[in-house]
Amino acid sequence: MEKPITNLQKFYARPYHDVNSPFGVDERGAFAEYIVHDPNNMPSLAMGATALISDRRENQDLWIACRVAGLKIISPFNPEKQSMLYLQDQKYDVNEVLKPLDELNGPHTHQPMIIRVELLREMLSDESSSNGFISSAIQRPPSAVSKLIFPNVTKVENDPSPSLEQILNIREQGLELGMIGFGNAPYETDNKFLTYRWDIENLDNKHVFIVGESGSGKTVLLKNLAYQIRKRNKKDRVILTDVQGDISQLLFWDFVDAHGKGNILEPKLAWQRKVSRETKEDAKKHLEPFQLVIPKIKNDEKDEDLVRLKRLANNRGVIVKEISLRLQDLSNPSDVEYLFRITSEQAPGLLDDVAESLRSRSEKPTIERLDAALNRLLGNNSGSTIVLPTSGVSYYRSTYEAARRALNNLKRYFDIDSDAIKTDQNPLNVFEFKGTTILYLDHLNQDERLMWEMQLVKWLYENKKEMSNTYVFFDEAHQIIPAKPNSFGSPGVFERLRSNFEKLAREGRKFRINLILSTQNPKDLHEIVPEQCPTRIVMKINPKNAKYAFLDDGLEYIANSFGQGQFWIQSPFNGTPDWIRVHSIAPPLPHEPMESFRKSLELKALKEK
Ligand SMILES: Nc1ncnc2c1ncn2[C@@H]1O[C@H](COP(=O)(O)OP(=O)(O)OP(=O)(O)O)[C@@H](O)[C@H]1O
Ligand SMILES: [Mg+2]
Repeated sequence: MEKPITNLQKFYARPYHDVNSPFGVDERGAFAEYIVHDPNNMPSLAMGATALISDRRENQDLWIACRVAGLKIISPFNPEKQSMLYLQDQKYDVNEVLKPLDELNGPHTHQPMIIRVELLREMLSDESSSNGFISSAIQRPPSAVSKLIFPNVTKVENDPSPSLEQILNIREQGLELGMIGFGNAPYETDNKFLTYRWDIENLDNKHVFIVGESGSGKTVLLKNLAYQIRKRNKKDRVILTDVQGDISQLLFWDFVDAHGKGNILEPKLAWQRKVSRETKEDAKKHLEPFQLVIPKIKNDEKDEDLVRLKRLANNRGVIVKEISLRLQDLSNPSDVEYLFRITSEQAPGLLDDVAESLRSRSEKPTIERLDAALNRLLGNNSGSTIVLPTSGVSYYRSTYEAARRALNNLKRYFDIDSDAIKTDQNPLNVFEFKGTTILYLDHLNQDERLMWEMQLVKWLYENKKEMSNTYVFFDEAHQIIPAKPNSFGSPGVFERLRSNFEKLAREGRKFRINLILSTQNPKDLHEIVPEQCPTRIVMKINPKNAKYAFLDDGLEYIANSFGQGQFWIQSPFNGTPDWIRVHSIAPPLPHEPMESFRKSLELKALKEK
């Protein structure tokens, strides 16, 4: 401790193995244990942290990248843990500072620590490779003379060891998601940080899955992703679904509250303030042009928040489109069985049959036409069952009546815009917009949101060729692709919804339609979501939920105590198959609590006509 440590002199931990417990590499993985006598000499020591083993093999320096998988303090005198048995209970003064005697305790506070590491990759220096090293799988345990050290954050001259940047294979370009650091702050050398770059340019499958509990920073991360995507390439389309109303804040950059405070997210932590960021004006330019798409439902003119939102967005040059869906654009009327609000089990089938017969006559199955057809059949027949002439199937009279009631209930959602029905244009074609589109869903109930999101999924799939280079964001993804059939309709409907999503995820990516899915309830989410998403992000979440995100054992306890904007990321095709801890910066984007946003809308609406 006396001599200052240069970058070329490092504290190291020694192998902790003996005759009874040699290091092993077997089918459970490769682990090794090291012992350090004063853990304070290793400030980077933290669960999940990337460490480095320095070893030699065949007269060549060999480096083994590893990850801290367990930490344990042991007593130097008594490994059986009885050393405190005979001390008496004591009181202490809450205001007391360390007394000289406590400090003087010397060897009694000496607590060696055992560091258990998971061995990840062997690295050999190689001039010709892009980052100076070639990596290969672990073949043998480290030797008895190996040393465990912590890598330099970036390359240090004359130091042959791979830096953290090289070990993690940090990309030179890509979306900047935040700063790497396995402790409670990012690594920092001379006010410089190691940025995690997500190189989407060179990624085949760009689907992302984000989990985090309420308040963990999911929405800020989504906004940041959208901003970074547009900043990287203005030709990329961004479509954000907004279920809570806070994504729509992206349309308003000039809001100021009663205390004169703006609505742009401000860095809170000391290190965040050291990071330079773009001005909000520049950030806004990347995201522009904006389009706000609002599903039209009956009587929405009474929703004052919505009226204000539309008007103020319009005043700021945002293209505002109110659209309603057409029943004729569904594959089958039964796709929206969960909106029928009737109990008849046969009615969905009947409606599908009638829609089919209209189509066979080149007529569009609108609510009006379907209803007229049912009404005609009821009027022309008097028996208790009526045969549908086109299909030859017979249905109860009561089924026809139930189907008419279902159609009546569907009028709340479909065919509201009588002009749209007459055109060839699917109203969802507004999503072809080349810019940032926000699909506002906050004014809808759960079933309505589900319907809109599913119709968007279906439309995207059908238009995948035209929609390449699009990033689609779904918040609350567990509601669209739930693990089990829930509130809506029959298992058949559930299956169809799931398969629509799966088709989009599987095939859409070939056309570069990329999905960004986030949820706070990963256990309610269908397993195909994490399966389809090679990039996974875990924000603050409780350990029980973390396992649904496939977080490695031991890391869930750290995730449990994450602050806002911190996360684990795993992105194998981006060079990081292991979980990396990232601390986000505060992006220069509008984000505030919904309560204050609504107030701002109200105040501004009074001022602007
Ligand atoms: N990167 C960040 N930098 C600074 N502050 C942040 C960051 N991320 C999140 N926060 C803070 O955390 C708060 C909550 O974040 P956010 O609204 O994104 O959470 P959420 O996970 O979307 O929550 P919910 O599930 O309730 O929607 C923000 O209002 C902001 O104050
Ligand atoms: Mg949110």
